[in-house]
Amino acid sequence: MKKILITGGAGFIGSHVVRLFVNKYPDYHIYNLDKLTYAGNLANLKDLENKHNYTFVKGDIVDDGFIQQLFAQHQFDGVIHLAAESHVDRSIANPLEFVMTNVVGTVNLLNAARHLWKDDYQGKRFYHISTDEVYGTLGESGFFTETTAYDPHSPYSASKASSDHFVRAYHDTYGLPVVVSNCSNNYGSYQFPEKLIPLFINNIRHNKPLPVYGKGENVRDWLWVEDHARAIDVIYHQGLNGDTYNIGGHNEWKNIDLIRVMCRVMDRKLGRPDGESEKLITYVKDRAGHDLRYAIDSTKLQRELGWKPSLQFEEGIEKTIDWYLSNQEWLDNVTSGDYLKYYEQQYVTR
Ligand code: NAD
Ligand code: TYD
Repeated sequence: MKKILITGGAGFIGSHVVRLFVNKYPDYHIYNLDKLTYAGNLANLKDLENKHNYTFVKGDIVDDGFIQQLFAQHQFDGVIHLAAESHVDRSIANPLEFVMTNVVGTVNLLNAARHLWKDDYQGKRFYHISTDEVYGTLGESGFFTETTAYDPHSPYSASKASSDHFVRAYHDTYGLPVVVSNCSNNYGSYQFPEKLIPLFINNIRHNKPLPVYGKGENVRDWLWVEDHARAIDVIYHQGLNGDTYNIGGHNEWKNIDLIRVMCRVMDRKLGRPDGESEKLITYVKDRAGHDLRYAIDSTKLQRELGWKPSLQFEEGIEKTIDWYLSNQEWLDNVTSGDYLKYYEQQYVTR
């Protein structure tokens, strides 16, 4: 039985990747390593608790001794690394935490893989999950490709860029079999409501102001999270050693246009008069260093490995809103306690 370590599996994207792998590959044993920070939640994986090929391990990738020991104990054949601090606004408030988890944590995993595999890399793979934000910002036109130069602007994207460089350096220096993917903004179920889409769904539900940064003119390229998980499956199994793949949905939206669509869908679902939720839109101070536009060219992944997004955005956003509305207990649980302190600092005192 192949043993695969997935890090950050209790988070948003990680939980979808763990679910896909556990269900699709009964002959793999999936170990989900997660520190369970504010963003990690075992309720995201309730349906997997009794699966024979799934084990949850609570632990911190920054703890080098623990990581070495975990690799020695379980003798993993592969690693799919998603654990990270992932929210730009939090990185502006506390950059060092991002350096620790995203950079030091990644290097700890690389070292552990290298020591375990001892240069006998047959059948082994270290897959690092990254973001399009490492490429910086686009103007009105153009797309990020795999050869776009790195130009990160936020502490979050700078820490991810650094980790990407370490992963490639371990390939070039030690021959470690690695693959990297850089994906655009994800949306879907189980996303922590600090990110735009679930935050605004939750606020509309509670008739709270919708804090739009700047003029709402920034553009993001949204991909349904389950399509990202499918891409990760394809790249883990078929991606070329040492290669990079960009993942994206060719689905660009100006924030304000996306927010208006969400308001209209929510009005309909909540039985509110048309235009009611739009009244909650409130323009607030812009995010520092706010990248104008992200857009991914995923031609390489589509052409070489045959992946393509399965869902149109209009259908995806309906599905996503339905999920949050029928999982209000999940939303209520993650928006109590520390979340209220975060919200106060991020928005109320702005
Ligand atoms: P998330 O914040 O929802 O989840 C991160 C998970 O990592 C959480 O479960 C958390 O508990 C865990 N974690 C954090 N620090 C840890 C540590 N020190 N040790 C062990 N576990 C730790 O993030 P996400 O949105 O699911 O993103 C997952 C990965 O995908 C990240 O690497 C992120 O950079 C990348 N990514 C995200 C997006 C996006 O739109 N969300 C897009 C492209 C790439
Ligand atoms: P976010 O979901 O934080 O993802 P990222 O910054 O990684 O792209 O934000 C998506 C876009 O929405 C980004 O342009 C910032 C904007 N935004 C707001 O206008 N208000 C908010 O409260 C948040 C969280 C984001």
